[in-house]
Amino acid sequence: MSQIDPLPVVDRAAEIRQALAAVVEPDLQRDLVSARLVRDVRVVGDAVKLTVVLTSPASPHREALERGVREAIAALAWPAEIEITWAADVSANSGFGQEGQAIPGVKNTLAVASGKGGVGKSTVAVNLAVALHALGARVGLLDGDIYGPNVPGMLGVDGRPVLANDKIQPLSAFGVPVMSMGFLTDPGQAVIWRGPMIAQALRQLLHDVAWGELDYLIVDLPPGTGDAPLSLAQLLPLSGAVIVSTPQEVALQDVRRGIAMFEKLRVPVLGVIENMSYFISPDSGARFEIFDHGGARRAAEELGVPFLGEIPLDPEVRIACDQGRPVTARGPDDPVGRPYFEAARLTASEITRLNAAKPDPLPVL
Ligand SMILES: Nc1ncnc2c1ncn2[C@@H]1O[C@H](COP(=O)(O)OP(=O)(O)OP(=O)(O)O)[C@@H](O)[C@H]1O
Ligand SMILES: [Mg+2]
Repeated sequence: MSQIDPLPVVDRAAEIRQALAAVVEPDLQRDLVSARLVRDVRVVGDAVKLTVVLTSPASPHREALERGVREAIAALAWPAEIEITWAADVSANSGFGQEGQAIPGVKNTLAVASGKGGVGKSTVAVNLAVALHALGARVGLLDGDIYGPNVPGMLGVDGRPVLANDKIQPLSAFGVPVMSMGFLTDPGQAVIWRGPMIAQALRQLLHDVAWGELDYLIVDLPPGTGDAPLSLAQLLPLSGAVIVSTPQEVALQDVRRGIAMFEKLRVPVLGVIENMSYFISPDSGARFEIFDHGGARRAAEELGVPFLGEIPLDPEVRIACDQGRPVTARGPDDPVGRPYFEAARLTASEITRLNAAKPDPLPVL
């Protein structure tokens, strides 16, 4: 009696994995399968169900990845309905080559800085934090401006933080834990700080606060290249700095200085934002380039750092901050807040790229 050859068993999940090995995650520059970003592949009848893990809830690559996944599966020989569940896992800065101790539970700390005062750092810091939270990331915000804390007013948050288990409990605004010297000193009180006191105050605000589990902790710095950025870079490893500038030539010299300072501190520059980039008249729609235009982009290109976008001068941005409800609290589809969301996505992407390029710390034996 002749034996009938068994029918070949088609392992469809394996076929799918093989197909998805051709889809590359742009920030990691690795394919989804080897980077373990595809999980729980299941074939249920004619449907393919799988989980795709983004490198951040704020990743700008979600649409491109979805297209890639759908096309790769559609190219297989059998028809399938595709059901993608999205997840996200933000990488932590390994702290390679930097000083200080990371805050336990905080994966990435980033500074928002500028060479010059009044260019919109605090506005950017606050809106980046609210935007990243709205996109699904766990974000905290530290007002690192010890002399002139503006963050509480911009988020409409006030009060005295309480101590619990020897840690200062941050206040919360728009889902973001917030800490500021403004919560600890009386309003209007002039505080005279010398360099070592600034370092000490920053140390407490970073290390004695119960930040919890965070993907990103954003630190709004005072203007300039003084004690605060130096202390910050010595206190803990920074994933990078976002530099805010206005477009005119004199401001750009400060951008160059800022970038040089962070490079000296071995803090990567995540990118440059051009604030007050242009103004659109609400009456005529005419565009005015009040402080010139495009200089920050050119400076970024010249210095080889990413450009994170242009934010127009818009009275709504200021009014929203004055009222303690930043424009990004209106969600990602509001046109006024959109440039901040765009900058938030690009910042998250840059952090992923830099973390992937750093070696992992050696295991503790
Ligand atoms: N794109 C914008 N359109 C309109 N107003 C803006 C914009 N960005 C910032 N502002 C306003 O400009 C003023 C200065 O902004 P902000 O306080 O953020 O600057 P800063 O760089 O943090 O200043 P400092 O150096 O004093 O810390 C604020 O009143 C803010 O509301
Ligand atoms: Mg400020």
